[in-house]
This record gives sequence, structure tokens and C-alpha cells, in this order.
Amino acid sequence: MMAVELKVNDRVCVIGSTGGCGQLITARLVDEGRYQVRAVGRSDAKLRKVLGGESPKLEFAEADSRDIGSLYGPLSDVDCVIIATGTSAFPSPRWRGGNTPDAVDRKGVQNILKAITSKPRKRAVKKVVFLSSVGVLRTKQLPYSILNAFGVLDAKRDSEDLLRQMASTEGFDILIVRPGRLVGGPWTNTDVSTLLKVEEGARKRVVVEQGDSLVGDAARVSVAELVVRALERPEAVGRALCLVNEEGPPFSEGQWTALFEGLA
Ligand SMILES: NC(=O)c1ccc[n+]([C@@H]2O[C@H](COP(=O)([O-])OP(=O)(O)OC[C@H]3O[C@@H](n4cnc5c(N)ncnc54)[C@H](OP(=O)(O)O)[C@@H]3O)[C@@H](O)[C@H]2O)c1
Repeated sequence: MMAVELKVNDRVCVIGSTGGCGQLITARLVDEGRYQVRAVGRSDAKLRKVLGGESPKLEFAEADSRDIGSLYGPLSDVDCVIIATGTSAFPSPRWRGGNTPDAVDRKGVQNILKAITSKPRKRAVKKVVFLSSVGVLRTKQLPYSILNAFGVLDAKRDSEDLLRQMASTEGFDILIVRPGRLVGGPWTNTDVSTLLKVEEGARKRVVVEQGDSLVGDAARVSVAELVVRALERPEAVGRALCLVNEEGPPFSEGQWTALFEGLA
């Protein structure tokens, strides 16, 4: 698949940047200093609290993905969008005000995709990365049938399908990342692993496969690393990659390179 390269100073927007993976992705992008990073969240105060103050490479914008009107402005001039929004799979305070999987993982993603393809735009989006989940193709199997009791995996799969459709009609690149059960900080979520503060511990080695084959825990820090590294890799374009961690040290530069080259 043809890859459209992101250039230095292109604007990369992380929507869901106050979340666990979103914070790490945003921080890593800012640290690299290659792009102009726009952190999008529902509350300006929360964005500033969790990500620190604005810097020359970091800007903030407020939007709620359930409200398409709030998305047009922040998404009108971005080259790349990383969708890291999510809610709890089971009823929790995070569903307050109707912020359910259907609203966030299906309709919210539909709104984001509609906003980035609506004309006129200041510039065309080149790349969209979507954080989905393992299990989207295995909703009849345990433990995913339980995880999907309130439809989170169905919603993620529908959004993946829409993303692929829109990528082919609109001509932007995509990457779908399907993490295993997320573990490790930052502690933002009210799911069980967060409550128990499950640490990735010695399980720092990443395992990445195409499709929806893996079972296990995924460290948020590894998800962020895969997303940011993949932005630069043509071999990752159009892929759906699942990720878990296993016992072992983190990947070296060479192992990351081999991972991407192995996708080609
Ligand atoms: N938890 C798991 O085990 C698991 C497993 C596989 C995949 N995933 C997926 O992996 C991704 C990252 O998960 P995470 O646990 O690191 O994230 P998280 O901490 O749950 O953060 C979710 C983010 O989504 C934002 N958000 C929620 N509703 C929104 C809305 N209506 N409009 C705009 N933003 C909204 C939140 O903003 P606020 O700060 O304003 O709430 C927050 O920034 C998510 O897509 C999740 O579904 C999770």
C-alpha cells in the first residue's frame, strides 16, 4: 500500500489525550519534537492538568466526540489524527451523561471521521490511527464474549470497518492498533486492572501480530510506543496490529525495525 509521509512540523492530533494511552502518545510525540501536537480533550483544565502547560510543540483544543460541532474546528487543519478515546466496557461512572461504548466507540468515532472528511478543510488528513481492541473478531469466544456484554467490541469493530471504508474513498492512510487488556499507568480508568493497579512488571517485551490473534495484557507504554513508531513506517500502513507484552526486556531499536520490516 502507498504510504503518505508525514513531514516535520505536520500537525498530529491526539483525541483522547487525557486518557492513559493518549497521555503517553502525546508526551512521546512532544518529546520527539518532530510534529506540532494538538492534544484534544473534553476539558481544557484537565488537558492542562495532565499534560502540563502549552509548549511550542504542544497546543490544546476542547472537543467532545459525541458533539460533531465541537470537532470541526480542532480537526480542520490536522495532518494526522490518533483516536485514543474510550470508555469502560461495563457500566461505571464513566458512562455518566450517556458516555457509553455505543456513544464513544461507535458514534464518537463516526463523528471524528465525518469531521475530518467534511469539506471545506484547510488541508487533507494524511493518516488516521485508531486504538481498537483485541477480541473484535472473536466476540463469540471467552473472554471476549463477556467483555462484549455491553457491545464495546461490536462498536470498535464497526468503527474499524467505517475507517477502512473512508480511507479507501478519501485516500488517507490508516493503522488500527488492537491492544490486549491494558495495564500500567497512567491510572485513568476504572476497569478492574486499573483498580488493582496491575503493573507490567518484567513483561516489557512486545509481541505484535497482524489480525486479532493475541491474548494477554498490554502495557499502555508499549501501545504508545508502537503507535508513535508506526507513524514513520510505511510497512505499518493499512495494518491491523494486535499487541500484548510478555516477560522480557523492552525491544531494542533493531528489534523494532525488524518488527516493522516483518510486516511487509
Ligand atoms: N482498558 C482496556 O483494557 C482496553 C483494552 C483494549 C483496548 N482499549 C482501548 O485502548 C484505548 C486507550 O485506553 P486507555 O485505558 O488508555 O484510555 P482511557 O484512560 O480510558 O482514556 C479514554 C480517553 O477518551 C476520552 N473520552 C471519553 N469519552 C470522550 C468523549 N465523549 N469525547 C472525547 N473524548 C472522550 C477521555 O477523556 P476524559 O479525560 O475527558 O474522560 C480519555 O482521554 C481506548 O480506545 C480503549 O477503548 C482498552
